[in-house]
Amino acid sequence: MKPIASKTAEETLALGEAMGRLISQGMSIALKGDLGAGKTTFVKGLAKGLGVSEEYYITSPTFTLINEYPASPFTLYHLDLYRLSSSDELEYIGFDDIIDDNHVIVVEWPEILKDISFEFDIELHFQFDEQYNRRISIFASGQPGINLLSKLFL
Ligand SMILES: Nc1ncnc2c1ncn2[C@@H]1O[C@H](COP(=O)(O)OP(=O)(O)OP(=O)(O)O)[C@@H](O)[C@H]1O
Ligand SMILES: [Mg+2]
Repeated sequence: MKPIASKTAEETLALGEAMGRLISQGMSIALKGDLGAGKTTFVKGLAKGLGVSEEYYITSPTFTLINEYPASPFTLYHLDLYRLSSSDELEYIGFDDIIDDNHVIVVEWPEILKDISFEFDIELHFQFDEQYNRRISIFASGQPGINLLSKLFL
């Protein structure tokens, strides 16, 4: 798929919101890309689309590692694993407790999850681009992810 150009933070928010609105089952989403590329910005939009109350201000879960935002029918779990040095630490942050259920899990810096063979339904790659400011590539694997992307680009 051709990458999506995002010239402003608002465009990245809108992409997240559109995806959030279309989610109709538990979903895991990986957000890859350099510092400041727009991952947390995307999560803010995603939260809005999922119906997370606007009372919640979406911040980087830099110290907590996992932020939980209630929404109906899906709870949103926002993880930032930048500071995790080993997958052994996943146990301490309660990762196992959130993966089985019908939740939406969105993970910044997901690379370490490879060590435990955790699979994502959707993966987004955020890149800097001189012309367009940001370039966002989206990949799906498995039927739930493919269905979501086909609805998003209908
Ligand atoms: N097209 C764009 N998409 C997203 N953010 C943009 C865009 N243009 C400018 N920005 C700005 O870039 C910054 C992106 O920060 P954000 O916290 O979303 O990055 P991040 O990828 O989560 O970084 P980190 O890896 O440090 O968590 C914000 O200040 C945002 O306003
Ligand atoms: Mg971030």
